[in-house]
Amino acid sequence: MSSEEKIFFTYNQIHQTIKKVAETIMESGFDPDVIVAIGTGGFIPARIIKTYLNKPILTVGLRLYDADNKPRTAPEKIQWIDEVEKKLKGKRVLLVDEVDDSRTTLEYCLRELLSDEPAEIAVAVLHNKNKEKRGIIPEEIKLYWAGEELEDKWICYPWDALDIDSHGI
Ligand code: G4P
Ligand code: MG
Repeated sequence: MSSEEKIFFTYNQIHQTIKKVAETIMESGFDPDVIVAIGTGGFIPARIIKTYLNKPILTVGLRLYDADNKPRTAPEKIQWIDEVEKKLKGKRVLLVDEVDDSRTTLEYCLRELLSDEPAEIAVAVLHNKNKEKRGIIPEEIKLYWAGEELEDKWICYPWDALDIDSHGI
């Protein structure tokens, strides 16, 4: 893949985008009880959202790509919220991820979380790629925010950088 097919974002740009999303969420009147971060890409965006919304974060671990970068047919659960404790039942949940790409992971995650009978789930992603999606946002989900709409290019996030100086910080 050539560099023209990649888009780089710095921590600073990401923080600015999340601030804008958090303000939009607050203006919408949606007041989550809990943030759920989809790891690993959603961890840092969720933590920045917490700075503005000040709500606790629960995490779920999902992986679509194997260690050798081959996509799996379905996402693999690495870690999940304790289903016995019913932590999400009746709660307003803000689900956070870094990128809405094919929507495969997002749809899988939303369906799993809906089975915990939350009052409502809203979705906030840092970036949405404008492309044909493989997954869908289930109709129960009425609120969705994307910080930025992007072309279908590979996004290089600062947390993946081996050399943060050449990434642009
Ligand atoms: P979606 O439902 O949110 O659209 O995600 P999808 O299943 O299409 O793919 C999810 C995986 O692909 C995630 O990683 C996500 O981080 C990664 N991904 C998709 N597009 C990009 C991109 O442009 N840049 C980067 N850096 N990653 C991208 P994962 O393997 O599921 O786990 P993790 O990396 O979050 O740990
Ligand atoms: Mg990833």
